Amino acid sequence: MLVLGIETSCDETGVALYDSDAGLLSHALFSQVDIHAEYGGVVPEIASRDHVRKLLPLINQCLSRAGKTRSDIDAVAYTAGPGLIGALLVGTATGHSIAIALGVPALAVHHMEGHLLAPMLEEKPPEVPFVALLVSGGHSMLVEVCRIGEYRILGETLDDSAGEAFDKTAKLLGLGYPGGPALAKLAVNGDTERFAFPRPMTHRPGLDLSFSGLKTHTRNLWLNGDRDDQTRADIAAGFQKAVVETLLIKCRRAMQHTRAQQLVIAGGVGANQSLRQTLQRAGKKHGWKVSYPRLEFCTDNGAMIALAGCQRLMTGEHSGPELKALARWPLDQLPPLEAPAA
Ligand code: KG4
Ligand code: ZN
Repeated sequence: MLVLGIETSCDETGVALYDSDAGLLSHALFSQVDIHAEYGGVVPEIASRDHVRKLLPLINQCLSRAGKTRSDIDAVAYTAGPGLIGALLVGTATGHSIAIALGVPALAVHHMEGHLLAPMLEEKPPEVPFVALLVSGGHSMLVEVCRIGEYRILGETLDDSAGEAFDKTAKLLGLGYPGGPALAKLAVNGDTERFAFPRPMTHRPGLDLSFSGLKTHTRNLWLNGDRDDQTRADIAAGFQKAVVETLLIKCRRAMQHTRAQQLVIAGGVGANQSLRQTLQRAGKKHGWKVSYPRLEFCTDNGAMIALAGCQRLMTGEHSGPELKALARWPLDQLPPLEAPAA
């Protein structure tokens, strides 16, 4: 089955062609980062309008890169939520219309299921069951993946997501948007030990996360101290270490709690090298396997949506005639995967 995948939930237009036998055939991405940078964050209306401009050319590019034509497409999978409603509607309306025009099924895909399954695009995919640390701009959660389609949320953020904490701290320090990569770059030259940072919610039991206190602590340090370049780098380094160690403590707890053997890191913050290295080391020490998608599939992309959609479409699941776009859509409300269609 050849699936066209479409992702437009935020500021990346992503398209991919995924084949149930051959795997990923092609993918294309346009990031709107430069467009939103001058505003210091994503402007929803500008995001929607740019998806309109880029989506069809990217679909054509993907088809020609894979040596396929429109008539080869067997199904269309598009991100239907959660995300920015206007941006989602572009992918939903386009994906649905293409499916109707071609007379093939369409499927509304959950963006976070895409992130969760993204490591399966790699040569050595993780085996279920596993625990996933899902850390993106919109979400931070620990999820037990019992099997594909069956997700148990072990803990989630009570306020800011890890990505938001990176972005807001970077903005405070006067770094560009998106802040995560910029802050990580600056942290390389910083002294992680110059300032003390809290490890939020690690001294009480449970797997929930909270980053707003850490953000305020960082803000007070920066606004009440020397604001020179070395201080900026030292704060970035200390902040990053605090986020990474907090996530490590929670992952360790989640692995003990579920007795899982495999940890998966997914979502945009999963591109952070310090986080990847720290969890990799912990995996070696504790005997867990640690998997993550390649960097380009950590952040939003069409490949993960095509793959996640394909898993469900193969079982015969597909959406009805109505357009589905949901700004909010809890992950544990997804239907479990049915047995494959005969
Ligand atoms: O998954 P994603 O592309 O979009 C959402 O679904 O939210 O995640 C974007 C988030 C942003 O907050 C960005 O700053 C963060 O991921 N991010 C990083 C890094 N690369 C992206 N955070 C820390 N270190 C990075 N290297
Ligand atoms: Zn995402």
